[in-house]
Amino acid sequence: MDDSTFETFFANPPSTIDMSLLDRARIPHHISCIMDGNGRWATSRGLSRGEGHKAGIVSLREIITACVRLGVDVLSAYAFSTENWSRPQAEVNLLMHLFAKTFIEELPLLHRENVRVVFLGDIEALPDETRRVFEYGLEQTRDHTGMVLALAVNYGGRAEITRAARLIAQRVQAGTLDPEDITQDVVADHLYTAGLPDPELVIRTSGELRLSNYLLWQVAYAEFYVTDTYWPDFDRWGLVDAILSFQHRDRRFGGLSAAKGR
Ligand code: IPE
Ligand code: IPE
Ligand code: MG
Repeated sequence: MDDSTFETFFANPPSTIDMSLLDRARIPHHISCIMDGNGRWATSRGLSRGEGHKAGIVSLREIITACVRLGVDVLSAYAFSTENWSRPQAEVNLLMHLFAKTFIEELPLLHRENVRVVFLGDIEALPDETRRVFEYGLEQTRDHTGMVLALAVNYGGRAEITRAARLIAQRVQAGTLDPEDITQDVVADHLYTAGLPDPELVIRTSGELRLSNYLLWQVAYAEFYVTDTYWPDFDRWGLVDAILSFQHRDRRFGGLSAAKGR
């Protein structure tokens, strides 16, 4: 299948999706996915949870390409939280190995699509194999000028804000920053997402209505879209449905509706 253009990639939509309704001039700059439901997807098919995680990676690949075709600037994806270490060791090991293995396998895709990878979270603390591969990928894609793919691995919103507080305190202690000069921009500059726009659309699969410690600071005014679909079943059409929903929202940012005047 030729997936190289927007038209070919989004040819033959299901009957539930009307592509003519999509406003291509109003695609969210930053889309963020909480990729949930791999385990339940697998269990419902009598497969191991590991099979669910493998299937989840296939979905991520499709969503990366879809976002590139749509002209998204930043796609972020929650892959492993600071709380996920509490899962059985065998599942944690499998995930860490899978991250390393697939990341190497997908590097040609990232090169072809001109995608620059960044990581959100403490990747220093990952097992050696995974950390090395991630550092290699960072280095290899550093000069790419297309979409940014921000992978949240060993990420927690509270850990991120705590780290920012520590980094800012160190600057104050060193005398290079006056406490009076600590603005919201200064805080944002000390988060893992420094330099990236805030997510405008956050998608959570598998029906859970919670953030699970994800991008707590950055989602202040994000639009949420929750689908019951498990992540391995989430595809380009699910993404378009989320964007169509986003395009219908009245984003007021605490003000009054743009349509009703201010
Ligand atoms: C999301 O799927 C992937 C990770 C958290 C690594 P889950 O593994 O949470 O799947 P469920 O929620 O148990 O179905
Ligand atoms: C959130 O999913 C984290 C990721 C998708 C990586 P979880 O499955 O860990 O979240 P909870 O435990 O249901 O809140
Ligand atoms: Mg889950």
